[in-house]
Amino acid sequence: MARIVAGVGCSHIPSIGAAADNGKEQDPYYKPLFDGYGPARDWMKNVNPDVIILVYNDHASAFSVELINTFVLGVADQFEPHDEGYGPRKVPTVIGHADLSAHILESLILDEFDMALANEMTVDHGLTVPLTVMFDKPDAWPCQVIPLCVNVIKYPQPTGNRCFNLGRALRRAVESYPEDLKVAVFGTGGMSHQLQGERAGLINQEFDKKFIDTLADNPEALLKIDHVEYMRDAGSEGIELIMWLVMRGAMQSPREAYRFYHVPMSNTAAGLICYEETH
Ligand code: DHB
Ligand code: FE
Repeated sequence: MARIVAGVGCSHIPSIGAAADNGKEQDPYYKPLFDGYGPARDWMKNVNPDVIILVYNDHASAFSVELINTFVLGVADQFEPHDEGYGPRKVPTVIGHADLSAHILESLILDEFDMALANEMTVDHGLTVPLTVMFDKPDAWPCQVIPLCVNVIKYPQPTGNRCFNLGRALRRAVESYPEDLKVAVFGTGGMSHQLQGERAGLINQEFDKKFIDTLADNPEALLKIDHVEYMRDAGSEGIELIMWLVMRGAMQSPREAYRFYHVPMSNTAAGLICYEETH
């Protein structure tokens, strides 16, 4: 049987990808960040998952704003990095797991989550930056990756509670897959930030730290945060944190293996939490 062995919550700030791609890890601005990622990378090597289900939002890259789906599962064999304006990142092609993703898709839909499916899609910084954060710069990504997109860029967005329940359903889907596979779930985005308007540049460290502190032991408290509260306390893009709740929903009894919080990084804080499943 497949099982969920680890969960990761991680910011997906595009400039981190650009810094890695351009060899700037030792620059004074980026050194403390990449130093902080070191222990997470060592931990990830030990976890050594076969497959990652990577929950992120497409930033109007693969999907245009003409058709917005709340939840999309990527079921292709592979996914190329998207060109976000500077050419596609020169990172390895993301290799999917078509059979597991087809199983998850069926399981989620029969579990009454109305997923859209993407037979073909590119992946933007929301997916590739967390892979860089956890795996550095390999010639090929060390495991297969199933993209799961959540709409957070266009209202109305799903609630945190819905995202958490999607995580629960994901766990049921993984655990009903007959092959022995070690699966990790990543929830990406955040932390508090706002990229436009009068409050552009907003960062709320108190909100971020409380979110990380509460996630493992009392996620129910976070499920009550509504869209207005995210907007007010975490800025217009702080809503990306609902994707961490998908990851948390997929974990039963997480044990914290590592956390890192570095602020500022670009327009936000680089937050990272690594969980092992103890159940
Ligand atoms: C930034 C963060 C994001 O999550 C994103 O999608 C784009 C930009 C930033 O901090 O610059
Ligand atoms: Fe984002």
